[in-house]
Amino acid sequence: MSWLTALIPHLKAVHVGMLLLWCGGLFALPLMLSRHDPAIGQADYSRIRRATHYAYTYFVTPSAVLAIASGTALIFLREVFVTWMFAKLVFVALLVTFHVWVGYVLVAVAEREGSHQSPNPVVPLLLLLVPILAILSLVLAKPELGEIPVPGWLAEPRGNQLPFDVPRR
Ligand code: HEM
Repeated sequence: MSWLTALIPHLKAVHVGMLLLWCGGLFALPLMLSRHDPAIGQADYSRIRRATHYAYTYFVTPSAVLAIASGTALIFLREVFVTWMFAKLVFVALLVTFHVWVGYVLVAVAEREGSHQSPNPVVPLLLLLVPILAILSLVLAKPELGEIPVPGWLAEPRGNQLPFDVPRR
């Protein structure tokens, strides 16, 4: 359908915009979390705590959802059922894991009773570079990666009966 094809550049613009916000947020949040130090004083602590909470809840998480939703739509519209895309999705899963870890630290540092030290941001930020650079290399170079090897029995009909009735057309 032509209107679906016309939608592609708009969806791609949404995708790139949202992933810029998402990845930018993933760099900013560990730095903001490292400022959760009682030594900065009550007023500054409240300010950074609120800013981090709102950034995660109202900007970074919705951007992640929209980046993933627009990317998923683009897979079907552009019909990119190719190996580099599946490799990209593995690295996107690592990005989502990082996102969840940031949320876990946010709650542990600012909302749990007892004293919790926020982690030093250097190692997490270096680790974050790995999936982001891998994704950008894959999506921009679109390399020919060959077929994903699957065992033969997964690729051919087995002729077995399902253990339940399925509706027939
Ligand atoms: C579940 C998450 C994601 C899915 C399903 C997805 C899927 C897609 C698809 C199908 C395209 C269009 C490719 C084409 O037109 O050939 C695309 C473009 C793109 N994606 Fe993603 N993506 C996801 C997350 C990300 C992330 C996290 C990044 C970066 C860190 C990213 C970076 C890009 C870029 C830069 C483009 C434009 C590439 C071009 O037009 O040449 N994507 N994505």
